[in-house]
Amino acid sequence: MRVLGIETSCDETGVAVYDDARGLLAHALHSQVSMHEAYGGVVPEIASRDHIRRVVPLTQRVLSEAGTALCELDGIAYTRGPGLAGALLVGATIANALGLALSKPVVGVHHLEGHLLSPLLAARHPGFPFIALLVSGGHTQLFEVTGVGSYRLLGDTQDDAAGEAFDKTAKLLGLGYPGGPALAALAASGRAGAVALPRPMIDSGDLDMSFSGLKTAVLTLVRRLERNGERLDRQARADIAREFEQAIVDVLVAKAIASLERTNCRRLVVAGGVGANRRLHAQLVDEAQRRGCDVYFPDLEFCTDNGAMIALVGALRLCEARPGEYGFSVRPRWDLASLRPPANVASVPDPPLAAGEEPADVFTMPPK
Ligand code: KG4
Ligand code: ZN
Repeated sequence: MRVLGIETSCDETGVAVYDDARGLLAHALHSQVSMHEAYGGVVPEIASRDHIRRVVPLTQRVLSEAGTALCELDGIAYTRGPGLAGALLVGATIANALGLALSKPVVGVHHLEGHLLSPLLAARHPGFPFIALLVSGGHTQLFEVTGVGSYRLLGDTQDDAAGEAFDKTAKLLGLGYPGGPALAALAASGRAGAVALPRPMIDSGDLDMSFSGLKTAVLTLVRRLERNGERLDRQARADIAREFEQAIVDVLVAKAIASLERTNCRRLVVAGGVGANRRLHAQLVDEAQRRGCDVYFPDLEFCTDNGAMIALVGALRLCEARPGEYGFSVRPRWDLASLRPPANVASVPDPPLAAGEEPADVFTMPPK
């Protein structure tokens, strides 16, 4: 089965072709980072317009690299949510237009399920069950994953996501967008223990997390240094970045290890953009291996948003596509734990709507 995957949930246009017998055949990505840089964050309208510009040429390129004609596709998958509504609609529209024109099934995929299962794209990948640490720009969650679509939420952030904390703190330190990679690069020249920041909720006894206080602690630290007349030169900022990164890593590692211990699970999967962080990578591997557990990361290029993870989940869930039914429905807010394992259509009801969410907009083609 060969599936085209289209990702447009935020500031990256990702397209890929995945074949369940041969693996990933081709993928391409266009990042909008340079467009949003000047604004210090993603501007939704600019994001949507750029997805419109990029998605067709990227699709043509990926199909050609995969040596696949449109008519050879078995289906099309797109990111249905969560994400920016306008950006999601671009992927939904192109996927459904293609599906309608080609009479192929179309399936809307949960972006975070893509991240969660992205380690399955790697040559060395985990079997079920595993604990998943999902650390993206908008989410910091721990799940017990017993199979595709069986996700039990173990712990969640009470406020900011780890990626969001990286981005906001980077801004505070005068770094560019996206902040995570910039802050991690600055931290590399920082001295360990030169300043002290808290490890929020590390001893809370549960698996929940909180990161917004850390950003405030950095702000307080910066103000104190300035009041004392200390120059906030590059080294001082690097020291703060180093301690900030270490604080986040300490909390994430502690909670991930506690999840493994509580569930007696021996496999840990790390997914989402913050999974690209080297210090997190090293410390997690070290702590988990000391306890006889294996850690799996997606290949670096599939840590952040990409079309490959959407094509992969699309292949797993294509059986859910209702023949002849095409719709521009997106779910900007969508709870991952509400997903169910893929099965035949009748046994996969639509998950309940979130508070304030509009019902899905679906139209059905009359039979030919
Ligand atoms: O998963 P992702 O690409 O997008 C979302 O679905 O949110 O994650 C993006 C997040 C951003 O907050 C970015 O700053 C962070 O991942 N990030 C990093 C690193 N690379 C990306 N954070 C820390 N260290 C990194 N090396
Ligand atoms: Zn993402």
